[in-house]
Amino acid sequence: MSRPHPRDPGTSTAPVRRRARLQHWESVYRENADAELGWTQARPEPSLSLVRRFAAPTDRVLDVGGGSSSLARRLVDEGYDAVTVLDVSATALERGRAAAGASADRIRWRVGDITDQAGVGAFELWHDRALFHFLTQADERRRYVALARRAVRPRGHLILAAFAPDGPERCSGLPVLRYDAGALARELGSAFRLVDERRVTHRTPGGVDQRFVFAVFERVRLTPVARPARRRDAPRSSRSRGAPRAPLPRRRRTDRREPTPRVTAALGETPRARPATRRRPKRP
Ligand SMILES: C[S@@+](CC[C@H](N)C(=O)[O-])C[C@H]1O[C@@H](n2cnc3c(N)ncnc32)[C@H](O)[C@@H]1O
Repeated sequence: MSRPHPRDPGTSTAPVRRRARLQHWESVYRENADAELGWTQARPEPSLSLVRRFAAPTDRVLDVGGGSSSLARRLVDEGYDAVTVLDVSATALERGRAAAGASADRIRWRVGDITDQAGVGAFELWHDRALFHFLTQADERRRYVALARRAVRPRGHLILAAFAPDGPERCSGLPVLRYDAGALARELGSAFRLVDERRVTHRTPGGVDQRFVFAVFERVRLTPVARPARRRDAPRSSRSRGAPRAPLPRRRRTDRREPTPRVTAALGETPRARPATRRRPKRP
């Protein structure tokens, strides 16, 4: 079991929450058939169409919180050859495996809590329908996002489907958070760029309509960190030795340059474009 991160106060209760989550989902799947579970779909749409649109059959696909959904089975039957399903419930995965029949061996089944994974591998497509909205604690969402950032390849995609602002407040007896695409984008941060969003109504097997948002994000390509070149004959910084800073020479207006863009070094994220400085036309 992983130890709590010292700088993350929320994680001190995380192991307890994870144990409770495991017990909850195990008993949900043990005590209910798929037809009794609100999220069951006869056909996993729009997930299937979105995966086809954003991933090629040779791409690696991860269905996070895939449960007993038929998405993985349908994808391998269409020729996708690197599909993984991860879920906290071994019972759910066993059920998915049994339903997949002969296709089951072509799918990787992985039991685990997504908020407690050091790594899951590398994927061109990450799909999550109705897991993320159960992460009501900020530290769990941070772990989820950090893992997704590491796992999804640059130019790869992440499909996130969550209850919409007018969707249910609870599901499977648990509280959920509701999102629009903008709120999901804020959770994911600047490493992911929103490229598609749609509102979808899901009719549960019991006949209740639930509003979802499906948002698709592209993993932003890493860019090398831009540093201005130092002149060979330039003296080393005197500031580091505690010397007072020399006054900068005054620039004439026409000499004004664009400021050097600030680049986030750790991830090499692309800086936001600044509007070009307009120069005054020269007087005749
Ligand atoms: C509402 S169900 C959705 C199942 C499937 N994605 C679908 O669309 O049919 C949520 C699934 O997420 C799984 N789950 C919940 N929290 C999880 C976590 N922290 N890590 C991994 N799986 C989790 C549950 O076991 C369950 O299978």
